[in-house]
Amino acid sequence: RILVLDFGSQYTQLIARRVREAGVYSEIHPWDMDPGAMRAFGPSGIILSGGPESVHTEAPPVADPLVFELGVPVLGICYGMQTMAAQLGGRVEPSTHREFGFAQVRARGHTRLLTDIEDHTTPEGYGLLDVWMSHGDRVTELPPGFKLMCSTDSAPIAGMADEERGFYGVQFHPEVTHTRQGKRILSRFLHEICGCEDLWTPGNIIDDMIHRVREQVGSDHVILGLSGGVDSSVVGALLHKAIGDQLTCVFVDTGLLRLHEGDQVMATFARHMGVKVIRVDAEQRFLKALEGVADPERKRKIIGGHFIEVFDEEAGKIANARWLAQGTIYPDVIESAGSKTGKAQVIKSHHNVGGLPEQMKMGLVEPLRELFKDEVRKIGVELGLPTEMVYRHPFPGPGLGVRILGEVKKEYADLLRRADDIFIDELRRADLYDQVSQAFAVFLPVRSVGVMGDGRRYDYVIALRAVETIDFMTARWAHLPYEFLDLVSRRIINEIDGISRVTYDISGKPPATIEWE
Ligand code: XMP
Repeated sequence: RILVLDFGSQYTQLIARRVREAGVYSEIHPWDMDPGAMRAFGPSGIILSGGPESVHTEAPPVADPLVFELGVPVLGICYGMQTMAAQLGGRVEPSTHREFGFAQVRARGHTRLLTDIEDHTTPEGYGLLDVWMSHGDRVTELPPGFKLMCSTDSAPIAGMADEERGFYGVQFHPEVTHTRQGKRILSRFLHEICGCEDLWTPGNIIDDMIHRVREQVGSDHVILGLSGGVDSSVVGALLHKAIGDQLTCVFVDTGLLRLHEGDQVMATFARHMGVKVIRVDAEQRFLKALEGVADPERKRKIIGGHFIEVFDEEAGKIANARWLAQGTIYPDVIESAGSKTGKAQVIKSHHNVGGLPEQMKMGLVEPLRELFKDEVRKIGVELGLPTEMVYRHPFPGPGLGVRILGEVKKEYADLLRRADDIFIDELRRADLYDQVSQAFAVFLPVRSVGVMGDGRRYDYVIALRAVETIDFMTARWAHLPYEFLDLVSRRIINEIDGISRVTYDISGKPPATIEWE
């Protein structure tokens, strides 16, 4: 297992993911991790991430001396290399020449890390690597015991190695895909230098999780709020495999779900997999609670609050339920651990199946706590969930409640469901579904005039939204082909009585958010 110490780089998560993709388990911890915890973690190797700091600031973040005393290999990336150099007796100076973006480094001599890894060869016989750099400071003097590993014109020491101790520093970022040989370099570090094996595979991960869940819950009963989303679905499939009948899922049909969603969830879990699922038809209750409410934040709070109430009632009926399972995943864990500064303004109060435990006095079962989204998906497929379910776009907790602008009515929800279904169906047919990160329809409760045949129409408007994004924090609107949009628009207007106009949302995030409310 590999310990990634985070010095604040925007790429830290990427480092951990690349390590796991190479088949090795990794965890991210803050740079000032408690030395006792570090020892207890028992890493086979340590990676020091990059970071925004300079070793020349007043109190620069430094690695605990234990990092270099554990007797395991260490790889410093960017700032991680600079602090390594400074801490082990080398020199780091502010550079007059900032390097940012693409660069080529010359590999000098042979090191275990880079030997035979190159993109080009210079006439003098050096290996050349195409890499991604971003740094201000640079190492100007090697620490004792280190030799030069690679260089660029502006950073004569772009990489250094102490082969005896297995300490390596690189000024470039092997974790980003722009560094073409990055994968091989990391794999070399993990497998050959740290001696790690490829054990982090979906099959092993599942076996390990099953074992741990069984140990945790014993013969107690577990409840899971199933939403139809990826994370809770994977938890459901996993727990079913681990504890069978000791699991009961509660699926709340809020009346704000996508077309046929409730039936699909029941078909997959109850019918095909034999999972115990209680389906609660709460449409009336939600619609009643939302009557006359137009304010987005109030709508969110009402939906979240009622969700908890309904779930609570159902959970109360299940005997011997001591545990509540949740689909918490690793980025949620890192985010809540890392946000020491406190969150900025509340833009939207997000609602998840989470937020339940405090009132429910049950223990938590969170088997996906250590996994990234792509790992969760791979495990879902391995557990036999349908690929379309596992690779679905995200769907917000409040559902169509935030996609119907203003007051929510059943009539609106029914129209929206059908329009959304046409849009998604056509995206799949055109092989565009997987090319966009999220796509959906929005219901605008304004009426506009249209003409159809000889008749006048005065009906509602549907907005289509499709975005491309990596992390959902920023997004660009998807440039879907005009012919495709034309087809979807015609189908919606022709097939749905009550919609007379379709528009396409061309706002990026920021300033617009992905959802309209
Ligand atoms: P926004 O609209 O904030 O959305 O740009 C970013 C991502 O979050 C999803 N979203 C939610 N997910 N509960 C959720 O579980 C919520 O209350 C919620 N609100 C927005 C949204 O669909 C997008 O993927």
